[in-house]
Amino acid sequence: MKRRDLHRLALSLALSAWAGVAPVQAAARRPAGPAWQGDPFALGVASGQPRPDGVVLWTRLVFAEADAAHQGRPQSVLCEVFADEALRQPVRDWVIETDARRGHSVHVIATGLQPGRHYWYRFSCGSAQSATGRTRTSPAEGERTERLRIAQASCQHFEQGYYVAHREMAQRDLDFVLFLGDYIYESSNPKYRLRTHLGGVPKTLDEYRARHAQYKGDADLRACHAAHPWVMTWDDHEVVNDYANDLDRDYSDPAVFLRRRAAAYQAYFEHMPVRIGPDPAAPHQMRIHDRMVWGQLAELWTLDCRQYRDHQACPDPNRGGARVVVGCDALQDPRRSMLGAAQEAWFMQGLTSSQRRWKLVAQSTQMSSSGVATPLGRSSFNDAWDGYPLARERLLSGMAQARLQDVLVLGGDVHMNVAAQLRVRPNDDSSPIVASEIVTTSVSSRGMNDKLLATIRDNNPDIRHARADERGYTLLDIRPAGTSVTFRATPHPAQNDSVLRDQARFEVLAGRAGVQLA
Ligand SMILES: [Fe+2]
Repeated sequence: MKRRDLHRLALSLALSAWAGVAPVQAAARRPAGPAWQGDPFALGVASGQPRPDGVVLWTRLVFAEADAAHQGRPQSVLCEVFADEALRQPVRDWVIETDARRGHSVHVIATGLQPGRHYWYRFSCGSAQSATGRTRTSPAEGERTERLRIAQASCQHFEQGYYVAHREMAQRDLDFVLFLGDYIYESSNPKYRLRTHLGGVPKTLDEYRARHAQYKGDADLRACHAAHPWVMTWDDHEVVNDYANDLDRDYSDPAVFLRRRAAAYQAYFEHMPVRIGPDPAAPHQMRIHDRMVWGQLAELWTLDCRQYRDHQACPDPNRGGARVVVGCDALQDPRRSMLGAAQEAWFMQGLTSSQRRWKLVAQSTQMSSSGVATPLGRSSFNDAWDGYPLARERLLSGMAQARLQDVLVLGGDVHMNVAAQLRVRPNDDSSPIVASEIVTTSVSSRGMNDKLLATIRDNNPDIRHARADERGYTLLDIRPAGTSVTFRATPHPAQNDSVLRDQARFEVLAGRAGVQLA
């Protein structure tokens, strides 16, 4: 493209945001569609992956029994973006064709927007109109942004509690929700059941779609999606507990398991405001890892800790997956990786060259060590970073060598709030603190028992706070001089009338690695 054309394009994009040509256009372009009996927008609306010039907007059509005749046909969906909450100032609109091959999901890569501001959006199809969502673009990359407010959440087993955390997040003034995995659960535990999954353990695309649709049936979850853009990665339960790359706990034939993984990834894409779906040429692969910036204040990487990892070390030959191991020599194999070579290289290159103040490393599990002393040696939980100790050491010594300051590692998965120091050699006072870790408790999933957790705390002085008995989410208030962390929590299980309170507050000061009690 010539520079003159580029200028013209930039100008037309800038004007299109404000020219106000959309109302006529939208009315004219509003495509014909069904006269719906039920609500095709019952799963709600969502937005995600904000950029300075745009955001991903999402919905998915669902078909009530009386509307089943429309299911086999492609449908045209109008998506409108507005500059104001009253929806009087149209900005842009798009007509998207969708059909059964993509579960009638709709993803709009909404570009041509202004940086650092709110927008409102809605979808329509035939006689039906969706709820209105609110979203936000990220600030311009060079802007000296003073503040970033994130709600960090993970692990929302539908059966084990209500989504009061989402209800509160929806009401808060946030820039985005950071969801770190276990969005759905494939399995059930009859001991902890406040409500019930429909159907059995999903394995096929239709079964994963039904499970996602049931989760999106929750009004608090829909409200939280409609209120804020989400930035997301996944953990294991979006496919199946403890999977690692091409292997599940049952040691299924990898070719068979990868077909299941492809079904789960496809259903995940169809239900989430994410830019990229499964690779059409290799549908068991889907890129979820991503990088985003928040002005000059912060840079954030979302990492994938499942798809590319090496299998867990020293597994039980009869039942694979996660396990506490002692005396496992395979852990010391330097070739083992949690992120896979390509993602690890991409991440470390970006991290060590970042010029922004805060470097936020969003990944699905706990990075600090949680092993305990046993008569046969120190134990390691082989599914988290303790199961990939040399890969962890590579990341942390890479940060140390690049003299990085202000790295915050953000995690989920373990169903407890954790504030911890990260050193190249865990729990070794002579190894300097390189980074700070904040792990958020689960929205609803049950945590480990207090006795075990007390032993873990006693054996790991780097862990400054760990509580597994409460559910909730974590607020991060990031400013140039420091980040304040508030664990918002309620006792397990989260009942529908539960109220969250501050469980603990921590501070991370700019220029000084490590968490401090506030
Ligand atoms: Fe979980």
